[in-house]
Amino acid sequence: MIRRLIVFIAAALFATAAAAAPEARVTSPGNILSVEVALNGEGRPEYTVTRLGRVVIAPSRLGFLLTDAPKLERNFAITDVRTSSADDTWEQPWGERRFVRNHYNELRVSFTETSELKRRLDVVFRVYDDGIGFRYEFPEQPNLTTVNIAEEVTEFAVADPATAWWIPAFQWNREEYLYSRTPLAEVGVAQTPMTIRTEAGLHISFHEAALVDYSGMNLQNEGHGRFRAVLTPSSDGAKVRRMAPFNTPWRTMQIADSAGGLVMNNLILNLNEPSRLPDVRSWFKPFKYVGIWWAMHLDKETWGPGPRHGANTANVKRYIDFAAANGFRGVLVEGWNEGWTDTWFASGKDFNFTRPYPDFDIEELARYAKAKGVHLIGHHETAGNIANYEPQLEAALDLYQRLGIDAVKTGYVADMGGIQARGPDGKIHFEWHEGQVMARHHLKVVMEAAKRHIGVNAHEPIKDTGLRRTWPNWVSREGARGMEYNAWGAPPNPPEHEANLVFTRMLAGPMDFTPGVLSLEGKGQPILSTQAKQLALYVVLYSPIAMAADLIENYQANPRPFQFIKDVPADWSESLVLNGEVGDFVTIARKDRNSENWYLGSVTDENGRTLTVPLSFLTPGKKYRAQIYADGPTADYRGHGKDIVIEERPVTSADTLTLRLAPGGGQAIRFVAGK
Ligand code: NOJ
Ligand code: CA
Repeated sequence: MIRRLIVFIAAALFATAAAAAPEARVTSPGNILSVEVALNGEGRPEYTVTRLGRVVIAPSRLGFLLTDAPKLERNFAITDVRTSSADDTWEQPWGERRFVRNHYNELRVSFTETSELKRRLDVVFRVYDDGIGFRYEFPEQPNLTTVNIAEEVTEFAVADPATAWWIPAFQWNREEYLYSRTPLAEVGVAQTPMTIRTEAGLHISFHEAALVDYSGMNLQNEGHGRFRAVLTPSSDGAKVRRMAPFNTPWRTMQIADSAGGLVMNNLILNLNEPSRLPDVRSWFKPFKYVGIWWAMHLDKETWGPGPRHGANTANVKRYIDFAAANGFRGVLVEGWNEGWTDTWFASGKDFNFTRPYPDFDIEELARYAKAKGVHLIGHHETAGNIANYEPQLEAALDLYQRLGIDAVKTGYVADMGGIQARGPDGKIHFEWHEGQVMARHHLKVVMEAAKRHIGVNAHEPIKDTGLRRTWPNWVSREGARGMEYNAWGAPPNPPEHEANLVFTRMLAGPMDFTPGVLSLEGKGQPILSTQAKQLALYVVLYSPIAMAADLIENYQANPRPFQFIKDVPADWSESLVLNGEVGDFVTIARKDRNSENWYLGSVTDENGRTLTVPLSFLTPGKKYRAQIYADGPTADYRGHGKDIVIEERPVTSADTLTLRLAPGGGQAIRFVAGK
């Protein structure tokens, strides 16, 4: 009897195993990660991820719900399986590092429905040693020509308990939330990148790459570690409308032993298409800029016309002179064009992108800037009214091109779901910042700008998914809480904010955070930082365009720390994470692309700490002068931020430095190469 029972159980186990047996499998080049794809008993595709033999993503569903056709997620047979590999290295025109290795094994699984519809869907996995990307590819086929997607059923079933760092999706303030650190089980609907650390210490960041003509993905907690994709809505029912053939964006998981491993990862860029602008470096090179900006956020000047209008010719000349004298290439000018009424943010309908205010002499200022070797940076605040902006776009960019204004900051200040776009019916429809309409809009702006050799820096943008590789004139963006929150009456950014950003938002790509406020003062409120930390942010938060955000007089009052802002480049050939924990602290070293000099930035949260940093990244045998900008003995983000000690000492790659970071503080170092 017992024997018969054992046989019965064994048979049952075998049957279950047979149903879930992997039908396709691929392993990363160094045998670290692997992916198995299988069909369950209902013909539903699932994938599983293991790392060094241990399951990290348990069987997770794949497929789609459609608005006008039966769902596409079961009754499938696997009709083809192909594998391939790649190992190449490509060069970035600008970026955290000059050369990027792209080394992966690929698995393509073709599914065909067993029903009479016989619809087909491919899923392609690219498996690297430090991450995985997969996307759906819809081949051309008779029974699926228009693809109207109601939802993806893509899942990510995290196998182990974990801590998550995340911001909520579908809230009015778009991407501008402080990161929450919670048990994974307490996440609601999160935006991506969402970063987790499992109990075993594995770090995983979930995001997407190459978000083109599709809607942005969010992650909904379904319980027991299981997350499901929730696409951003559209005004017309279907969240995505496409014609086959087409590919979805890549769904990505960066996977590393350490927090720093996430930052060293090139997965998102590697999954994007190569550059469409091979000569971009001849017309865009990273730079630093100042501008008519912080004074408005402090309410000392105004965007709109009147006695305190910031963008007046004399004030802009003052900034051009300051930029020229201190080596900044760019001068941003906001509030230069008609439309800054008292209620601009409510509709954006009055913005005119070719008509300057009368006290802003754009022709004279372009001439004056050019004579001083400075470039004005344009500004297109749309208030999310792209129905007003798009018809003006080409003329607006033509104007900039004619005047030598070769970078533009765009802006989409509108509540989530408040984008005004003209639909195919000619009427205004309300859309979401991360929906398909905006994915199309941003690329349209970037492509029109590229034709005119203009770089784009979008605020209140769609999330970054690495499209800077394909369109390297998309140079930066906002898409998180930046410095501006420290000016307003709103609670300022807490000291842990930047240590959160590095391991979450910054994994998506560059951010125009606008650091360098040495006054440490917002509008009637202190900034929760030290001066040394403000300097460190130029190294820690990557952007190829980096603002020195403070007022001219505040830089004049702080010439010694200002020297670091003048010296630090924005153009790097290498970037290394020396230490760090999500939300606690991080130290990053970067090498200047145009010299042998290195720079180091280290920031901490509200806790002071002492970090030991071996300088083994420096070239052996070379001598360097380390110019150190450190928190002083009394430094503290609570009222003693200006205590900074600046000193210089000789170092080599054999040395180890001890960095003492004050509570809420940081440290910045310039290593000047000698012989
Ligand atoms: C919000 C942007 O983030 C900020 O930089 C800009 O000054 C205002 N919008 C006005 O466009
Ligand atoms: Ca903003």
